Amino acid sequence: MASGETTSTAFPSPGEIGHFYDRTGRHLTRFFGGAMHYGYWTGPDDDSSLEEASERFTDLMAEKLGVAGGRILDLGCGTGEPAIRVARTTGAEVIGISVSAEDVRTATARAAAAGLAERVRFEVADAMAPPFPTDSFDAVLALESMGHMPDRARVLAEIARVLRPGGRLAFCEAFRKATLSPEAERAARAVFDAWMGGSPLIPIEDYPPLVRGAGLELDEVVDVSVNIQKTQAHLMERMRAGLDEDPEFPPDLARVMQAQRDVLPFRDEIVAQGGYGGYLVVTAHLPA
Ligand SMILES: C[S@@+](CC[C@H](N)C(=O)[O-])C[C@H]1O[C@@H](n2cnc3c(N)ncnc32)[C@H](O)[C@@H]1O
Repeated sequence: MASGETTSTAFPSPGEIGHFYDRTGRHLTRFFGGAMHYGYWTGPDDDSSLEEASERFTDLMAEKLGVAGGRILDLGCGTGEPAIRVARTTGAEVIGISVSAEDVRTATARAAAAGLAERVRFEVADAMAPPFPTDSFDAVLALESMGHMPDRARVLAEIARVLRPGGRLAFCEAFRKATLSPEAERAARAVFDAWMGGSPLIPIEDYPPLVRGAGLELDEVVDVSVNIQKTQAHLMERMRAGLDEDPEFPPDLARVMQAQRDVLPFRDEIVAQGGYGGYLVVTAHLPA
């Protein structure tokens, strides 16, 4: 266990996480504005919509991969928007995997509707045991999916295995920022639990040894917490409206909303500590 990991138990299994997305993916795709990840704003004056900020984040991650053509593996592909966008911007063939069968169905239909069925494919598979040969991808992308995977070291080792020498990795996810009082810690963690975070949050300084431990060479770890900050307000506004107006609003997401409310009494403490969760982007490559 890395130094900052919590000892919280009962993390959901990949199967349970898959079912969560089966039940919520349609709604989440709408709330997040096409993909299912945070937006990236350039600064406080940037008043982009969540849709624009989300697309900007996908493009930024694709740029970090630095590929033109080739074959990209999208780990935790969601409903396919990032894979389709990355295929368009890089010219690459993209294979996306998810533990949610519903994700894969939706993503496959979206790729077909985009006229990209030949170049963008999806399948149900666990990123901790990706069913691909060694040295078979030029790049791996994991957009906000690794926090669901119970064993990051294993995922990174599998990424190193499927990458060709010189192949590149870019991933983004939440990291652990503050140490809180036990009550505040429980409430803050409960939000991640409600989102089915299958993996403990770890501090930013744990990433370099984790990445290098998998045999990858680290390029950079960037704290983008300030850039993604506006996501929460946009998302909660949409989810609140969904909860009020949509009779099919998924109970899983109602639990997320409740966990968000339960954390409010600890807000001052969390703010004083600089926030519970930060957000980072990591890039690395397999030595040539
Ligand atoms: C927050 S969504 C992000 C989806 C997509 N990357 C995007 O940005 O729109 C997390 C995704 O990771 C997938 N996932 C979670 N655990 C996984 C695992 N062990 N293997 C493969 N996919 C997984 C989920 O099914 C879901 O599609």
